[in-house]
Amino acid sequence: MFGLKREKALVGLDIGSHAVKAVELRVRKKGKADFFEVARIGYEPLPHDAIVEGTIIDAAAVSETIRRLFDKSKIVNKDVVISISGNSVIIKRISLPAMEKDELTESIVWEAKHNIPYPYEETHVDYAILRPAAGADGQNLEILLVAAKKDKIAAYSGVVEQARKNLEAVEVDAFALTNALEVNYPDDFRDKITALLNVGASVTTIVICERGVPQLFRDLSIGGSYFIESIRKNFNVGPEDAEDMLRGAPSKAVPAYDLETLLGVNVKSLLEEVEKTFTFFEAEDKAQKKIEQIFLGGGLANLKNIAGSFEQKFGVKTILFDPFRTVFYNEKKLNPSYYQEMATFFGVATGLAIRQRGT
Ligand SMILES: Nc1ncnc2c1ncn2[C@@H]1O[C@H](COP(=O)(O)OP(=O)(O)OP(=O)(O)O)[C@@H](O)[C@H]1O
Ligand SMILES: [Mg+2]
Repeated sequence: MFGLKREKALVGLDIGSHAVKAVELRVRKKGKADFFEVARIGYEPLPHDAIVEGTIIDAAAVSETIRRLFDKSKIVNKDVVISISGNSVIIKRISLPAMEKDELTESIVWEAKHNIPYPYEETHVDYAILRPAAGADGQNLEILLVAAKKDKIAAYSGVVEQARKNLEAVEVDAFALTNALEVNYPDDFRDKITALLNVGASVTTIVICERGVPQLFRDLSIGGSYFIESIRKNFNVGPEDAEDMLRGAPSKAVPAYDLETLLGVNVKSLLEEVEKTFTFFEAEDKAQKKIEQIFLGGGLANLKNIAGSFEQKFGVKTILFDPFRTVFYNEKKLNPSYYQEMATFFGVATGLAIRQRGT
């Protein structure tokens, strides 16, 4: 969104509040078709409290983590694209009559001033035309208006610069995820109403696409940190122990049954939050739309039985999102079990790398 578009190999760099992920892709030709191959990949956890609820608290620690990640994963390409998420990013769908580009720019500014709950001067505004294709006339333009707080962009750009990388563009998580969905599940993306949920540490990003067109984007302020906080408070354990328990490590101090009960309560809260977004989408027009497939990604997608809980709640097939489903990786160089274990973490980073390769 916010940055120049050009076709060159960039590293998709996802600075989450729990861990930093990086993916570098290259395009390979096979007959007439192009496909993506992972060139380099890396994951590095952040120190506790370096980023809290999407706010960078310890910039030095974050930039140091980025540097370490590049070193360890042997990523030499310094050109990166990052993304931001959470409540300082606003994405709105608006409909405008077809018009010339100059006029459109003016209208976008007007719409931004009236649609965004932050002072216009404090935000960066960009847009993408969804429908009809740019240049077609005579119909309404369906536009995605994106506004992000300048201070958020500045803080995230700052750590990238401190890590001595070249920032080529700033995206939003939701768009990166949409790219990853389209490339990895082209049939479902084209033919169905799909919801992709990326449940991270502090944010759950929801993308709903209807037969090839993104319809709704939402960032909810809930994720793994909410679960960890709840484990900490209920069982009076430290953050590290709480995290281990969330990941399924047996605890001497807390009976398994009690932990499972608490996790069940937390999953219920998450499902209820998600339900509000689904209901909003399904009730939006009179056509009685129904979400037909759910994809789950992000770190919390690894929680035991979480896909089953979604299926039970919404009565819809729910599968773990695999951002490497159609992305090739060389099994001689990179361990396949790494991908199986880590896939859910890499939706955003892969989507960022895909987009900037000019798909
Ligand atoms: N096996 C597991 N089971 C349950 N939860 C897990 C597991 N592994 C990681 N998590 C949780 O997933 C979260 C991290 O996910 P992810 O890396 O997607 O978040 P992030 O991108 O760093 O954060 P955000 O985007 O919300 O700022 C953490 O809260 C972590 O505790
Ligand atoms: Mg994330």
